[in-house]
Amino acid sequence: MITELTILPGFNKSGLKEDFDELTLQAGETISIVGPTGSGKTAFITDIELLAQGDTATKRQIRINREVPSDAIRYNPALKPIAMITQNTKCFADLSTEEFLQIHARARGIHGKNIIGETIDLANIFTGEKIHRNDKVTTLSGGQTRSLLIADAILIGAAPIVLLDEIENAGIFKQEVLELIHGVGKIIIFVTHDPVIALHTEKRLIMENGAVKKVITQNDLELYAARNLVELDKRIGLIREELRAGNIITRELLNLNLA
Ligand SMILES: Nc1ncnc2c1ncn2[C@@H]1O[C@H](COP(=O)(O)OP(=O)(O)OP(=O)(O)O)[C@@H](O)[C@H]1O
Ligand SMILES: [Mg+2]
Repeated sequence: MITELTILPGFNKSGLKEDFDELTLQAGETISIVGPTGSGKTAFITDIELLAQGDTATKRQIRINREVPSDAIRYNPALKPIAMITQNTKCFADLSTEEFLQIHARARGIHGKNIIGETIDLANIFTGEKIHRNDKVTTLSGGQTRSLLIADAILIGAAPIVLLDEIENAGIFKQEVLELIHGVGKIIIFVTHDPVIALHTEKRLIMENGAVKKVITQNDLELYAARNLVELDKRIGLIREELRAGNIITRELLNLNLA
């Protein structure tokens, strides 16, 4: 059981020590990482992915339940408690979507009759282009692949820590991801440039020059702002889908009341 993930400070790009003592995330907590391009967001979650022990460019160290993770956990993919989904994540196996999920479910000892269908249905809530059981995983688009892997991480994958690097790009309905990902008891970290995602997490880390600059805890006003932004974002999403479908934007569509 993983209850806590702790990140111990490393050094910024100029070689100065990061300005925090330690950062601990509890199971069930969501956090976003924001900051300018090149500020070290991906490097931060990669440290977690690698369970770094001062052996990466940043020199950070990761603890699980306050302890140094064993080599088995670090190097045996079957024991790894972390799923990382990036913009470049691709499935390489020559399998259909159904076979891919079946193998994963079997490896996790999940035998539910409908788990494969449920996972594909969930993925299809996240993506505009539907995934079919018989589609080869190698032929899925970037957005479809990420949708499938997020659904897999929620329903089949046992990884208690999920790292998501800029999932908002390339055709994912992030609103649905945000709603479903809360309350599954995992530690979920979003690297994001998207204000809707950033305002929805309980904490957010601000990165600068390769280091954590600030850790901010969400306040009530922000929660309120986040709810308002969702409405705005849904409107933009709707217009985006209409444009994608080749439709003309009408006055009715612009004035549509979404509440
Ligand atoms: N603390 C550090 N020490 C040394 N190098 C670092 C440090 N942090 C990040 N880097 C390096 O800086 C480069 C940019 O970092 P990174 O890719 O993490 O940025 P990013 O915030 O994810 O940017 P983007 O928004 O464009 O994805 C990478 O090559 C990374 O390895
Ligand atoms: Mg990045």
